[in-house]
Order: sequence, then C-alpha cells, then structure tokens
Amino acid sequence: KKPQIIDNFGRPHTYLRISLTDRCNLRCFYCMPEEGIELMEKPSIMTLEEIIEMTRTFRDLGVDTVRLTGGEPLVRKNFGYLVEELAKLGVTLKLTTNGIVLDKYLDLFDKIGLRKINFSLDTLDKAKSIFITKRDYYERIMRNLNMALDMDMDIKLNIVLIKGVNDKEINDFIALTKDKNITPKFIEFMPFKGNKWDWSKGVSKEEILKTVGDKFGEIETLDNPKHSTSTNFRVKGHKGSFGIVSTITNPFCDECNRIRLTADGKMKNCLFATSETDLLTPLRNGGQIEGTILEAIKSKKHSRDGMDVKMDADHYEQNRSMISIGG
Ligand code: GTP
Ligand code: 5AD
Ligand code: SF4
Ligand code: SF4
Repeated sequence: KKPQIIDNFGRPHTYLRISLTDRCNLRCFYCMPEEGIELMEKPSIMTLEEIIEMTRTFRDLGVDTVRLTGGEPLVRKNFGYLVEELAKLGVTLKLTTNGIVLDKYLDLFDKIGLRKINFSLDTLDKAKSIFITKRDYYERIMRNLNMALDMDMDIKLNIVLIKGVNDKEINDFIALTKDKNITPKFIEFMPFKGNKWDWSKGVSKEEILKTVGDKFGEIETLDNPKHSTSTNFRVKGHKGSFGIVSTITNPFCDECNRIRLTADGKMKNCLFATSETDLLTPLRNGGQIEGTILEAIKSKKHSRDGMDVKMDADHYEQNRSMISIGG
C-alpha cells in the first residue's frame, strides 16, 4: 500500500509502535516512576480484536512495520493469539521485551516469522539487574536470551546508560560483539513524566564512542538504514555491530516515520507528544478512523514534539510515563 500518513514536513509514516499494556513484571527506575503509575482500567484498554482492527486500518494507510511494546507486551493475556492474527495482516512484526517470559513464545515466533526482538538488558551483572529492575529475574532473562540466540533470532540489546549504574559496562557489551551476532544498542537517558531525569547522569554518544575507542581501537561507521533510531558502528574485526540512540545530543527526527498507539487507543505523533488523538472511542462508536489519523498527523512537530533545542521539564512532565508509552 502507498504511504498515506504524511505530515506537514512531507514525512511518510509507515512504522507503528503499539503498546499492548501499561503493565510490566519489572520496575526499571528510569522507566517506571517510583510511586508507580495509575494503571489503566480494563474497559479503557483496546481489546485484542480492536488492536487487530486498528492495525488493519493503519496497514491500509501504508504502515508496513509494527513493533509491539508495553509495559511488557508478553504479559498481555492471549498474546499468542494476537500475534498470530497480526502476522496474517502482512505487516513486518517486531517486538521489544524484557525477555522474562519469552521462552513461552519463541516457537510461535519462529513459526510466524517474527525474528526481530529487542531485549531490554541494561546490565550483565546480577546485582545490578536487581538494582535497576527492582526484581530478581536475572537468571531467567539470561536463559531466555541465550535460547533466542540459539534459535538465530535477530537480537538487539537495549541498554539505557546511567552514570554510576551501568556506564562501566559499555565495553563488556562490546566484548560480546567480538564473535557473536548480537547488537548492543546504547541509549541516551531520556526524560518522561516522573522519571527524575537528570542529564548529568546520562551518557552521551560522544562519551560512548570514546570509551569504546580507548579500549578497542578502530571503530568503523556503518551505513544506517533509513529511519533508523540508532547510528551504527562496528569495532574493526568484530562480528557484531553496535548502535547508539542519541535522542538528547543528536536527535534523528528529520526522517522520522513513526506513529505510536497506546494501550488505551490514543495515537501519539511523537515519543514526546503531550497531546494525543483518541482513536478508540470513534472506533467503538462504529466510525471510520482513517480521516482522524490523516488529520492527526498534520499536527506533528518537526523534532521532539517541539523541544527542538533542549528538553524542557514543563513539556516532558506533561507527557506520559515511559512505561505507558512503550519507547
Ligand atoms: P530498531 O528498529 O531495532 O532499531 O529498534 P528501535 O530503536 O526502533 O526500538 P526499540 O523499541 O528497541 O527502542 C530502543 C530505544 O529507542 C528506546 O529508548 C526507545 O525509546 C527509542 N526510540 C524508539 N523509537 C524512537 C523514536 O521514534 N524517537 C526517539 N527519539 N527514540 C525512539
Ligand atoms: N530513556 C531511554 N530509554 C528508555 N527506555 C525506557 N525508559 C527509557 C528512558 N527513560 C527504553 C527501554 C526499552 C525501550 C522500549 O525503551 O530500555 O528497551
Ligand atoms: Fe518494564 Fe521495559 Fe519499563 Fe523496564 S524498561 S519497567 S522492562 S517496560
Ligand atoms: Fe520522531 Fe519524535 Fe522520535 Fe523525533 S523524537 S524521531 S519526531 S518520535
């Protein structure tokens, strides 16, 4: 299908991220506010049939790639049924998960051809894992990661770097790329409602490259796929590559092709969007939502929802918490 969701900057939107739930079996401190969030009530959440209907609508408007997120998408009830139905729609499916219950679904993913799995794994150290996630699932996570690697899934590791927590592990992750086809993706710490963002705790793209270069020597710059969130590199001679998601120091909005749909059926034009468009109510009222989507995209700002120059607390505190956006 020809892309039809085009914003005022001429950017076609062909990639949809759907948050299946605002619940998660972890409590990563940079994502989930310490006091928790007010969880969505069941009637306000899209049913599985509504998610399928929404996806079909977006597909008919030119969306060809759908990433399933959360919270933790795999804790959504009847996830297996949902993903099988979505696969029938002919879009490329991808998943971002913390891996805790991934073993239950790997065979199914193999069957339907879902191979691109991004794993939230901020540390390779058990004590730190417990500190970051406030839960003790380290062994299960590592076991499931290895299981997915053994099945030759296309795995990236999402690592949100925080000074004094996991910044000393950058080169441990890089060491994995020496002879494994695994892609660590280092992420600059980003601000959302209630996550006590403080950029002095973040690690910049420049610092990451320096840390890797000091230890491993020559770093090759790779071609970036169009619309990529990460800039991609490889240590010379290593098998796997690595990426850096530099939303804070080098935003990559020029080629943004992303739309988000929250678990309660709101369309978000941008990860940082403070205003959203309700698609679920009109869908439930039997209306056509195509027009609403095409209209909503016109209010998309060029970069970071208008925080073009700097991240502004008055702005991002009006956004949701990351756990209910899904990244
Ligand atoms: P790949 O397609 O494998 O590169 O994954 P991705 O980076 O698109 O998605 P993922 O869910 O793995 O997210 C990794 C990090 O990128 C998270 O911190 C997300 O919040 C961030 N991210 C994903 N999409 C966007 C985006 O459109 N804008 C910005 N600024 N960050 C994004
Ligand atoms: N800054 C950057 N990335 C974040 N994520 C969650 N919270 C933040 C934050 N504050 C990442 C998680 C997950 C992805 C979807 O979003 O690591 O892998
Ligand atoms: Fe859960 Fe992922 Fe947020 Fe951690 S980062 S609390 S695993 S949704
Ligand atoms: Fe797109 Fe917003 Fe991310 Fe920029 S910050 S790439 S506009 S979603």
